[in-house]
Amino acid sequence: MSKRQIIIFLTCTIVALGVLAGASTLWMRSGSLSSSDGIRTSGEALVGGPFSLTDHTGARVTQDDFLGRPMMLYFGYTFCPDVCPTSLQVLAVALEEMGEEADVIQPVFVTIDPARDTVEQMAEYVGYFGDDFIGLTGTDEEIADIARTYRVYYGKVDGESEDDYLMDHSSIFYLMGADGKFVKHFSYTTDPEQLALDIAAHL
Ligand code: NI
Repeated sequence: MSKRQIIIFLTCTIVALGVLAGASTLWMRSGSLSSSDGIRTSGEALVGGPFSLTDHTGARVTQDDFLGRPMMLYFGYTFCPDVCPTSLQVLAVALEEMGEEADVIQPVFVTIDPARDTVEQMAEYVGYFGDDFIGLTGTDEEIADIARTYRVYYGKVDGESEDDYLMDHSSIFYLMGADGKFVKHFSYTTDPEQLALDIAAHL
């Protein structure tokens, strides 16, 4: 081989290796894309679902009553000393900051302490956060059912007496689409601006 042939041979080899590397990168990318799609699909299927509860006016409601508007759902209890009132206040301020864009969003507070959170108790409590807030309560079983579909953790912490106790619970906002399907969850935050941005980015 002449010096020129060697250069051509080496150039071809390098180009061929480059094409192979490029192809394998593309293949790996398409592989990881499809696997993350799979995770997203199964996530949608696993969060949320049918429920049957009583709202803060005493009316019986199901998931179908909430179709047509995106919903921001939060689980907690009215006797919560800190996390719940903070979270609901942050949500109220975030929705206010979003202005008209937030008009379509239905804020919903679901109790995980139905023993104390009666219809009357829920009505008074959601009123603190805005006229648009809906409070949902139900029987122990109904609350256990919706908590399970949303993968919400909650449990009673033994207190001073039968009526004076705390509840442990996860503090997560769930954004559900107008079609009732899970869109995104947002972790506990004390920053309304950030929550407003997060919600707006997923409407
Ligand atoms: Ni709480």
